[in-house]
Amino acid sequence: SSPLRLGIAGLGTVGAGVVKIVRQKAALLEARSGRAVIVTAVSARNRDKDRGVPLTDYAWEDDPVALATRDDVDVFVELMGGSDGPAKAATEAALSAGKDVVTANKAMLAHHGQALAELAESKGAVLRFEAAVAGGIPIIKTLTESLAGNQIERVMGVMNGTCNYILTRMEDAGLSYDEAFAEADGLGYLEADPNLDVGGIDAGHKLSLIAAIAFGTQVNFDAVELEGIGRVTIEDIRQAADMDYRIKLLGVTRYTRRGLEQTMTPCLVPAASPLGQLQGGTNMVVVEGDQVGQIVLRGAGAGEGPTASAVMGDVMDIARGLRLTTFGQPATTLRAATPAKAAVS
Ligand code: NAP
Ligand code: HSE
Repeated sequence: SSPLRLGIAGLGTVGAGVVKIVRQKAALLEARSGRAVIVTAVSARNRDKDRGVPLTDYAWEDDPVALATRDDVDVFVELMGGSDGPAKAATEAALSAGKDVVTANKAMLAHHGQALAELAESKGAVLRFEAAVAGGIPIIKTLTESLAGNQIERVMGVMNGTCNYILTRMEDAGLSYDEAFAEADGLGYLEADPNLDVGGIDAGHKLSLIAAIAFGTQVNFDAVELEGIGRVTIEDIRQAADMDYRIKLLGVTRYTRRGLEQTMTPCLVPAASPLGQLQGGTNMVVVEGDQVGQIVLRGAGAGEGPTASAVMGDVMDIARGLRLTTFGQPATTLRAATPAKAAVS
């Protein structure tokens, strides 16, 4: 059968990682999907930058929208980031042209996921985003596929590795918040806008996407109750430790008679629990379903290899001919997400 042709926009940490997998694992990918998976065209801002991987085999486009609509691109892989701007414009262009899209962009999906999913479905295209939530952890596939026979009762977890790194350095090394923040910055962990991490916004984006799938609701990021870690002091950490607790930026979502609960706030968790034991930049997602009971997924929530791994999982689904919906059911069937707080007041 014909090769699956990728057009990749964004050649940073994740994009370069995806190109490497496609180049280095060509035989494996073909054996597993029954067709070759190749890159035909790429785009980034700076054409001359060394990405640590050869790019001369691929057509270059300065404009991501032009890349997304090329005739030799079957799947547009969006790895630029940003909730609006070129990422959204190129994703819309690709879907409007009936092309499948794989993205790692939680900010774009948290704000525009409903409209983009509806556009994809109206065009018979697929829009997938495993890499957008908890990096290498396959939480989207777990919810949409493996647990499709369950009523999901609750999902909770640590979904921002940078915050977990800062909090565990405060706990383990006795660093102040400012010292731990500076250390995370020095290691290159922080987003270009650090408030996305420490303000809980990045983790809130991820939680809102999980909630939509878990409860069949429209994405409602604006209703996430958000508090970042900026006000956590070393004294808070010590008091928690004295009671055998740890402080985690914890996301929790449930659907109750009062409506959809989505909270992303610093919480006390027992030090001996799986969440309490979670160290450094790692992520953990705990899912409770009425049939499966509780399952725990733990792994790298960021970084080149883990995030590119998740992107390739979506690409391989498409290569195998799986036409999965974005949120586990048609976007037009998702119910409005009435926030629990609004329902109470
Ligand atoms: P990054 O290293 O900053 O790379 C972004 C890439 O996009 C760069 O190659 C940049 O080009 C390109 N770009 C930006 N604006 C562009 C434009 N207008 N036209 C063309 N190219 C443009 O970002 P990243 O860490 O790989 O993240 C990519 C996406 O994955 C984001 O949505 C992020 O939230 C998500 N994600 C990242 C991780 C992670 O661990 N890094 C984990 C999960 C999800 P230049 O290189 O030329 O500047
Ligand atoms: N800034 C994010 C984190 C990257 O620290 O988890 C992955 O989404």
